[in-house]
Amino acid sequence: MSNASSIRCLITAGPTREFIDPVRFISNPSTGKMGFALAEAALEAGWTVDLVAGPVALEEPNGAILYPVVTAEEMFHQVDALFDACDVLIMTAAVSDFRPKTQHAQKEKKADATMTVEFEPTTDILKTITERKVHQTVVGFAAETKDLAAYAKEKLKSKNLDWIVANDVSQAGAGFASDTNEVLLIAADGSFLQLGPSDKKDIAVELISLIVPEKP
Ligand code: CTP
Repeated sequence: MSNASSIRCLITAGPTREFIDPVRFISNPSTGKMGFALAEAALEAGWTVDLVAGPVALEEPNGAILYPVVTAEEMFHQVDALFDACDVLIMTAAVSDFRPKTQHAQKEKKADATMTVEFEPTTDILKTITERKVHQTVVGFAAETKDLAAYAKEKLKSKNLDWIVANDVSQAGAGFASDTNEVLLIAADGSFLQLGPSDKKDIAVELISLIVPEKP
């Protein structure tokens, strides 16, 4: 049985922003609520929490070590720097999959704008980081609008995860910006558990109690 105070948990939360020019970016509606609720629940369980957060408007959980980031690349570098020391990685962040190929140094003037933006992929943080997974328990989130379980299982496998929290973001009262959530927790061995509908904090407490990290 692990000593709770020796468990180090790395949590990512919120959206990322990928800039077109200094005043324009692409992002998504993530508010970071699920990740911050998980950070609070992990702290209450006596864990040490490193919280890597994209731009959010939430109060810092008391006791968490906060690492603010903006872009997917910054989030990747911060997770990369903290991963080896953690026992549990929970990636709730809604990382942008694409970024503009060109980021203009100056504001694009309306009259001169080309009206097309070419994108390139960002680093898949989970996929890259789990290549060097040793003892860590890694939990991903899957934001889906259809075929929830099937897509989530594909991600569980392709990203080499121990657990995936499948979230139907098309439902009212679930996913982005909501205070409540309803998720399907799927384990690598194929077992699954429905959590909610309930408060994101209640779901977070339940998730933290279910994640039993392997210690080296
Ligand atoms: N994720 C990541 N790096 C990215 C994109 C996503 O680590 N560049 C993580 C998310 O934090 C989440 C999981 O991968 O834990 C699944 O994210 P999701 O957006 O549901 O899936 P994608 O891999 O982006 O695939 P798709 O957009 O095709 O659904």
